[in-house]
Amino acid sequence: MAVFKAAFLADIHYFSPKLGTTGRAYELRSGSDQKCLAESGAVVDEAFRILAESDADCVCIAGDVTNNGERFSHDEMIAKMDALNEKKPVYAITSTHDWCSDGRSRRYVGNEAIWDAETYGEADLPDLYRHFGEKDELAKFVNAHGFESRVFRLSDTLRLIAVNDDCDGEGGRSGYSPEHLAWMVEQIKTAKAEGAYVIAMEHHLLLPGLGRLINGGQMIADSETVAAALADAGLRLMFVGHSHMMRNTEYVSPNGNKITQINLGSLTGYPAPILYLTVEDGVARAHVEFLQGFDYEGKRYGADFFRDHTADVLLHLLNAAATDKEDLRERLGADGIRIPKYDTLYPVIRKVAKKALTIKVGAAGRLLNTLTLGKGADKKDIKAVKDDKLLPHIIDDFLNVFDGSYLARTQKEEVKRITVSVGECLSPLVGRLPLGKGKKESIKKTTDQIGAIARELMYPTGDVMDSVIDL
Ligand SMILES: [Fe+2]
Ligand SMILES: [Fe+2]
Repeated sequence: MAVFKAAFLADIHYFSPKLGTTGRAYELRSGSDQKCLAESGAVVDEAFRILAESDADCVCIAGDVTNNGERFSHDEMIAKMDALNEKKPVYAITSTHDWCSDGRSRRYVGNEAIWDAETYGEADLPDLYRHFGEKDELAKFVNAHGFESRVFRLSDTLRLIAVNDDCDGEGGRSGYSPEHLAWMVEQIKTAKAEGAYVIAMEHHLLLPGLGRLINGGQMIADSETVAAALADAGLRLMFVGHSHMMRNTEYVSPNGNKITQINLGSLTGYPAPILYLTVEDGVARAHVEFLQGFDYEGKRYGADFFRDHTADVLLHLLNAAATDKEDLRERLGADGIRIPKYDTLYPVIRKVAKKALTIKVGAAGRLLNTLTLGKGADKKDIKAVKDDKLLPHIIDDFLNVFDGSYLARTQKEEVKRITVSVGECLSPLVGRLPLGKGKKESIKKTTDQIGAIARELMYPTGDVMDSVIDL
C-alpha cells in the first residue's frame, strides 16, 4: 500500500509587520509570551520553504493562523499559504484568534499600543479560507455560527476530518453541538465503511495533556463525552493546538476504545515544531522536527532564538521585579495582571526576586526541607547539585512545558527527582493544615494535580518526538 506523508503545523499567529514591531509597547507585548511576533513572517517563510521542498504530500494547519485576526495578518498569511498550496495541498482550520475573539487587536506606533487594528470578523473567515482543500472536500458541516468543519480526501485510503470547534459547545464554549458531534461520528463511520483510515484535527484540546489544572480552560466543552464518542466511532488520532504545549495523551473510552491526542506546539514560539505523519498500512508514525533557524532582516537566527525568547518571559519579569518597580508594573500590566496593594507588596516581591536570581540549589533545598518539615527533596539529590544556580533549572522546567519535555532528556536525574519532589511535597502537608476535612480534601485535589504535573514534566508518559498510532 502507498505511503502517505502529511505535515502538521499549529498556532502560527502570523503578525503583519505593517502593524508595527518596535517600541516599548511592542516590546512589552512580545516579551509577555512565547510567540515571536515580529519574526513570524520569517519563521513562516523558512518553514514553508522546508515543507515545499520536503517529501510531505500535504500540509495541515490546526488553527490560530494569525496573531489576533488582523486584516493585514490574514491577507499576508493567506498569500503565503496560497504560494505553498501551489506546491502541496494545504488544509487549514481557523480558530478564535483568527477573528479576534478577545477584542484585543493592536498596532504599535512609537512606544504606544493603539487598539484599533482592523480585523476580519467570524463571518468573513469561511470565505477567506474555503479554497484550501476545496477540490478534496468530501463532506461539510456548517455550525450555527457559520464555521465550517470539513472532511478531506488525502489519498484513496486516508481522510482528514478538520473540525472548527469555535463557540459550538455548551454555553458558547469551544466544542460541538450534538448535531455537530453526530456528523463527526457519521463521517468517521462512513470512512471506515468505505475502507479508508481517518485522522482528525481541531484547535482546542480534547484531552488535558498536562492535567486540568493547566489545560482545563483550554479544552472543548464536555470533552470526555466527545472523546468517547470519537474513539467508539473508530477515530484513533486527533491533532490539536491552542495550548502551545507539545504533549501526547491517550484516552480509553468506557467501551475500551483508545484515542491519542497529539498536541502540537506553536510554530512561531519555542520549540517551533513541524510534525510529519507517515501513514502506511493503517499505521501512523509521527515524527517531530524543530525549526533550526530563519533569516530575519539580513541576519540568520538559530533555534536558540526561540528558546531564549521563551526563557526571557521569565527572566525579564524576575529582573524587573528585582530592580525596577515601575518596569515590573508595566510588564505585569501588559499581561493583564494587576497586583492589589502593589506599592506595599513591592519590597517583598523585590526581595524574593533577588533571591530567586542568585540562590543555589543547596540553599533552596535546605529552605524547602525546613518549610516542609523534611518532606521536600532527597538530601542526597540536593547535595549532588548543591552548587548549581537554581534559576537555570527552573527555566529548563518552564521550557519543558512547551517542548513536551524534550529538554528533560538532558536534565540531570537529581534535578528531575528534585522537581518531582517539589511538586509532590504539598499533598502530604495538607493533612497538617488547621482546616475541616472537606476543605482539606478540596485543597488536596489541587496539590495532587501539582504533583502529577511535575512528574509528567520530568517523566512524560508519551514520546512527543516519535510515536506510533494504529489507525
Ligand atoms: Fe494559539
Ligand atoms: Fe488558540
